[in-house]
Amino acid sequence: MKLFKSPASYRKWRSSCGGKVVLVPTMGALHHGHEMLLRKARRCAGKQGSVVASIFVNPTQFGAGEDFEAYPRPMGADLAACRRCGVDAVFAPSVGALYARDASVRIRESALGEHLCGPFRPGHFEGVCTVVGMLFLIVQPHAALFGEKDWQQLAILRRMTRDLHFPVDIIGVSTVREPDGLAASSRNAYLTSGERALAPRIHAAMKAGATKKSPDAAATLCRRLIEEIPGATIDYVKAVDAASLEPLASRRSEGRLVVAVRLGKARLIDNIPLPAIR
Ligand code: PAF
Repeated sequence: MKLFKSPASYRKWRSSCGGKVVLVPTMGALHHGHEMLLRKARRCAGKQGSVVASIFVNPTQFGAGEDFEAYPRPMGADLAACRRCGVDAVFAPSVGALYARDASVRIRESALGEHLCGPFRPGHFEGVCTVVGMLFLIVQPHAALFGEKDWQQLAILRRMTRDLHFPVDIIGVSTVREPDGLAASSRNAYLTSGERALAPRIHAAMKAGATKKSPDAAATLCRRLIEEIPGATIDYVKAVDAASLEPLASRRSEGRLVVAVRLGKARLIDNIPLPAIR
């Protein structure tokens, strides 16, 4: 497995790649959700193709007072996980290798990013789009895989790829859950053992909500059950259209029940399908 720290050294290797190049962008602290993405990327690239994992804690997607400094960076364990999953190359640049000191160009999506996490994390999706756009230009993948756990991020990156004509297939991969239902996330590491024991109730609340026949009833029941979790603070609980992220008018079209909940130091996001009832 190759390790590249600069765009120039990566590009030299990229020019010798024959088959399909499949990218899994990550911020490291890899867990079994990432491993699922990497293994899927391996199958997608096939024997002739190459899997590239990027590991980069992107400063521009963290707001003031967020966890950029504290974000875990276990590079040794991350490289071992990549090796286990059949990754061919890891691209792990420094901040200075990606961003010029006076960098002044950003990519901003201006519709989907206004909903859900947008108002709570100003500038976050602009940072995500900018770094993923850079990764697409540097890594030159044919396809890129993203987890469905961040449904809004996935929708925004699909829109960016379409609108800017990046020649990249965006592949969404189902959320990986712990046996008790909690969505796998690097930020679960911030939960104390008491909070960790309470956290699966978020998924249980979502599943209960999804049994309701109207979007409003689904969100209301889910909210009520999350409010009963000691110490949980809700940023939002919403039933939205799966593609536009606008409020879901009825269950005649595909929806998504999406939540963001603060528990101790962790901000947990999650979503499940609200399949159309016809
Ligand atoms: O989902 C993430 O881990 C990050 O937002 C991403 C896509 C790697 C961009 O930094």
